[in-house]
Amino acid sequence: MDRAAFAAIIPREIVSMSEPLIRITDLCKHFPVRIAWPASANVPLTERIAKSLSRRKAAVKAVDGVSFDIMPGETLGLVGESGCGKSTLGRTLLRLLDPSSGRIEFDGQEMTELSQSQLRPLRRNMQIIFQDPYASLNPRMTVGATVAEPVEIFSIAKNNSEKERIVAELLNRVGLPVDAANRYPHEFSGGQRQRVGIARALAVKPKFIVCDEPISALDVSIQAQIVNLLQDLQKAEDLTYLFISHDLQVVRHICDRVAVMYLGKVVEIADVSSLYSVPLHPYTQALLSAVPVADPSVKHERIILGGDVPSPIDPPTGCAFHPRCQVANKPPACFQKVPKLRKLGVAHQAACHFAQRHDQQ
Ligand SMILES: Nc1ncnc2c1ncn2[C@@H]1O[C@H](COP(=O)(O)OP(=O)(O)OP(=O)(O)O)[C@@H](O)[C@H]1O
Ligand SMILES: [Mg+2]
Repeated sequence: MDRAAFAAIIPREIVSMSEPLIRITDLCKHFPVRIAWPASANVPLTERIAKSLSRRKAAVKAVDGVSFDIMPGETLGLVGESGCGKSTLGRTLLRLLDPSSGRIEFDGQEMTELSQSQLRPLRRNMQIIFQDPYASLNPRMTVGATVAEPVEIFSIAKNNSEKERIVAELLNRVGLPVDAANRYPHEFSGGQRQRVGIARALAVKPKFIVCDEPISALDVSIQAQIVNLLQDLQKAEDLTYLFISHDLQVVRHICDRVAVMYLGKVVEIADVSSLYSVPLHPYTQALLSAVPVADPSVKHERIILGGDVPSPIDPPTGCAFHPRCQVANKPPACFQKVPKLRKLGVAHQAACHFAQRHDQQ
């Protein structure tokens, strides 16, 4: 029996007792950069001039100590403002970027230390769909060649006719006409190009796909079609998704659980119903308050976040969110201690010194 059928008859808690497909532990990705020295009036002029001509070493803490599991068959949403580290996290957990520290396990196998050649067989199980379907496709390759490329790389077809059959099946699977194989990406609309990207990702029969904002570059009218396609494919192919998005309404619709990122850290992670009904972190509360509500009778207070996102090179002390936090009379801990994720509900964790437990399932 496949997992979807199993999940339909067995309570979710029991399904979720299976082993995680992905487990990341304390994952960090810091990019080394060189930046200007801070201005200081107390140093002699010659030293100041020398410093102004040089650069100091620093690190962009794009992902800074993230831990979570993704269970087989589930969709974990990843949300947060631009620059908070969502794409870097998605790419690092696929080992498209090398982690600075921490662990990544895929299907029980430790993959943090594997070399690129050792990673090769695992790569087949893990794919990525990008935001911009035009930039991610080679304009000089036909759609057929684009979809066939991974089939060739992983020697999936025995001969050319089998390869052509697989490509035709994949194009059909994602709702493209068979003659699409002989055409080039520029001949297609944005939604169709995204379908090509999905067909290419599916070509190797992966278990896990990172969907990095797969619909944000598309017209609103097309977005729902791509979301539906991703959901259909998930059921049919037993896929597990990490779904990166800015669109909290889509995330609510498509995801089982959601992780909220702020400045390289996960500040809250919960099942969809808890996150949307009892958001615990003030940052999540602010993000959700910006989501339009269809029913005008529902009282809806918009929380406006003040200031810009601080630099991931030099994040604020204590809770990195404290300079923008709307909670009044913050305790000293907010300025001094980095809050850790705490279990505050059945499937709900938040990293806020203030957040209180709730009993909602
Ligand atoms: N190669 C790099 N070198 C230095 N800094 C980088 C590099 N790649 C990303 N960053 C920085 O890492 C941080 C996280 O970037 P990332 O692209 O992961 O954010 P994001 O949450 O995906 O943003 P968006 O929603 O805009 O896609 C940003 O401050 C970004 O400038
Ligand atoms: Mg991104």
